[in-house]
Amino acid sequence: MSATTTTARLLPGKPVADQVLADVAARSAALRARGVTASLATLLVGDDDASAGYIRIKQQQAAALGFASPHEHLPATATQADVQRVITAWNDDPAVHGMLVQYPIPGHLDYNAALQAMDPDKDVDGMHPVNMGRLALGIPGPLPCTPAGIEALLAHYDIGVAGREVVILGRGATLGRPLAMLLAQKRPTADAAVTVVHTGVKDWARYTRRADILIAAAGVPGIIQPEHVKPGAVVVGGGVRYEGRRILPDVDESVAGVAGAITPRVGGVGPTTVAMLFRNVVAAAERAHP
Ligand SMILES: NC(=O)c1ccc[n+]([C@@H]2O[C@H](COP(=O)([O-])OP(=O)(O)OC[C@H]3O[C@@H](n4cnc5c(N)ncnc54)[C@H](OP(=O)(O)O)[C@@H]3O)[C@@H](O)[C@H]2O)c1
Repeated sequence: MSATTTTARLLPGKPVADQVLADVAARSAALRARGVTASLATLLVGDDDASAGYIRIKQQQAAALGFASPHEHLPATATQADVQRVITAWNDDPAVHGMLVQYPIPGHLDYNAALQAMDPDKDVDGMHPVNMGRLALGIPGPLPCTPAGIEALLAHYDIGVAGREVVILGRGATLGRPLAMLLAQKRPTADAAVTVVHTGVKDWARYTRRADILIAAAGVPGIIQPEHVKPGAVVVGGGVRYEGRRILPDVDESVAGVAGAITPRVGGVGPTTVAMLFRNVVAAAERAHP
C-alpha cells in the first residue's frame, strides 16, 4: 500500500466504454433492421485458459450487442496452413465482418503472418500493415484499439489535446507508435504536439516533465514516478506487465499525488480497448453494407 494521498481526478475507462458500446448497440440494431447481423469471428489456437477466457468474454459482449460470433478452435499442434485456411474462409465469407486471432498463439506459429493474411477491412485489431498505412495517411479504416481507446478516453473527460504537449513513453507497434500518429492527426480530439521517447532517449524524463498529457506505453512496471511528471499533468497508464494474474502498471501509484488527472491502476485503458474492438466490428459491417 502506498502512503501517498491521491489528489488527482480519476479517469476510469468503464464510463467511456459504456458510452461507446451504447452507440455500437444502436448501430448494430440499425443494421439488423436492414437484415444485416454484424459478426466478429474469433480463432483460438491451443488450450491456454486465459486466452479461452478472453474469447468467452468477447463472445458474451458480442451477443449482448446483437452480433454473431462464429468461433474456431484449433489444437496447439495446428500448422500455419491450418490457421491460414480458417482466415481465408473468413476472408471469403461475406457474413463475417471482423475477425481476430487471439494472442498469443503457440510459438511455432507466426502471428504476424496470420495478421497479414487477413482481409485488412476485417482486421478489427487495426494492426494489419494496410491499416497502419491508412492511419499514417489519414484514410478511414479499422483503428488500433488501444490508441483509439485512449483518444476516446481523453475526449470523454473533456481533456483538451489540441495544441497541447503530449509525451508518449514507448514506441511499440501496438501502442506508442500508432497513438503518436493518431493524436497528431488534424482533428478536434487530436491535433496535439506529440513527442515520443524510448530507450534511445536516455534523458526521457526531460520530455515527460514538460508534458501536459503523459502517456505511459513502455510495459516497464513503475517506470513513471512522481519526479517524471509535471504537477497537474494528465497521466494515462497504457503500459502494463502481467505477473500471473497480477497487473503491474507502468505508472507508480504515488504519481496520483502529483498528477491533475490519472487513469486508475485497474480499469483505465483496458475497457476502452475492448469497446474499440466492437466499434471496429460494427464499422466494418456498415462499410460492407453501405
Ligand atoms: N491496456 C491495454 O489494453 C493494452 C493494450 C495493448 C498494449 N498494452 C501495453 O502497452 C505496452 C506497450 O505495448 P507495445 O506492444 O506497444 O510495446 P513494446 O513493443 O513492448 O514497446 C515498448 C516501448 O517502451 C520502450 N521502453 C521500454 N523500456 C524502456 C525504458 N526503460 N526507458 C525508455 N523506454 C523504454 C521501448 O523502447 P525501445 O523501442 O527503444 O526498445 C519501446 O518503444 C505493453 O505494456 C502492453 O502490455 C496495453
